[in-house]
Amino acid sequence: MKRIPLAKPYWDDECEQAAVAALTSGRWVKGPEAKAFGEEFANWCGAIAAVPCQSGSAALWAALRLLDIGPGDEVIVPGMTFIATATSVSLVGATPVFADIESDYWCICPDDVEAKITSKTKAVIGVHLFGQPFSPRLREICDNHEIALIEDAAQAHGAILEGKMAGAIGDIACFSFFPSKNMAVGGEGGMITTTRPEYSEKLKRLVDHGRNDTLESIELGTNLRMSEVNAAIGRVQLKHIDEWTNKRRENSRLLRHDTKTRPNCEHAWHQLCVFVNDPNETISNFNKAGIDSRVHYPLPCNRHQVYSEHFQHQTTLPNCEEISHKLVAIPIHPSLDGNEIERIRTVLHP
Ligand SMILES: Cc1ncc(COP(=O)(O)O)c(C=O)c1O
Repeated sequence: MKRIPLAKPYWDDECEQAAVAALTSGRWVKGPEAKAFGEEFANWCGAIAAVPCQSGSAALWAALRLLDIGPGDEVIVPGMTFIATATSVSLVGATPVFADIESDYWCICPDDVEAKITSKTKAVIGVHLFGQPFSPRLREICDNHEIALIEDAAQAHGAILEGKMAGAIGDIACFSFFPSKNMAVGGEGGMITTTRPEYSEKLKRLVDHGRNDTLESIELGTNLRMSEVNAAIGRVQLKHIDEWTNKRRENSRLLRHDTKTRPNCEHAWHQLCVFVNDPNETISNFNKAGIDSRVHYPLPCNRHQVYSEHFQHQTTLPNCEEISHKLVAIPIHPSLDGNEIERIRTVLHP
């Protein structure tokens, strides 16, 4: 019996031809593919502009630099997310302030965000966790307090919040094309999008040493550019993303799980995480049936060793503590066939 992986990167002849064409063109960087990929991606998600970059982590770093966030500033982030959401803030010299998550949808809790806003708060990074859009209240809160809203959309290509797609909800959004993500680029990759016309030029500069058209560095940036081969593959994958997202949604229905979806939203189902009391037992049951699964995320971010000196290291964020180690991710990717769905469903509903 063939093992069912948690993710399966997509590859076809068109991806291969696009990659080879980019290589044989001799133009490996700063060429037409990256430019077109940015334009097509912005167009697809409804952003004003988009710039491809080297990873989701690089996109987060650039988003914070774009907002001039640095030492002395605070940025509110969820306690349960992939660690890069928080470390990007530390890497620009600012302080991540951890907020608890919602008990039902597991995204950053708007009430706790509001409670943690101080005069130093410059932004909130909301994560569309596992593909579930964060609360629409985040936009209201950020507007009321005149602080920026950054979407960490690394897991949310195609998610929709009250009619707006991930990438067009916050001031800036950051996507990842890591191979397990909903779409990929044949290596590492990311995308930064913005809904603010005034940021679009700066966005392009930040991934290219802060240089302007005359090649003068007018602000601090570095080389975060995406290669032409990756961009060419990304452009092919972008043509399939809506179909793949629909398949993920269909798989979610077929699996008949009881994970909650926020009203007025469309989940992108990057991960299907189920809440269980005994994750080891669940993982062992899936393992015996030849199915990969794993806990997402075993440790709240403030508890990681990297934050041993952080003022919230010993703080308990009650929902993060209760929920994080009990969420087991099981396969939901679009290449599952009917037989595989049935195998997963049998373990889920014995
Ligand atoms: C929520 C979240 N933020 C940020 C990242 C970082 O993306 P990358 O791995 O492309 O740097 C990831 C992906 O791993 C993620 O899941």
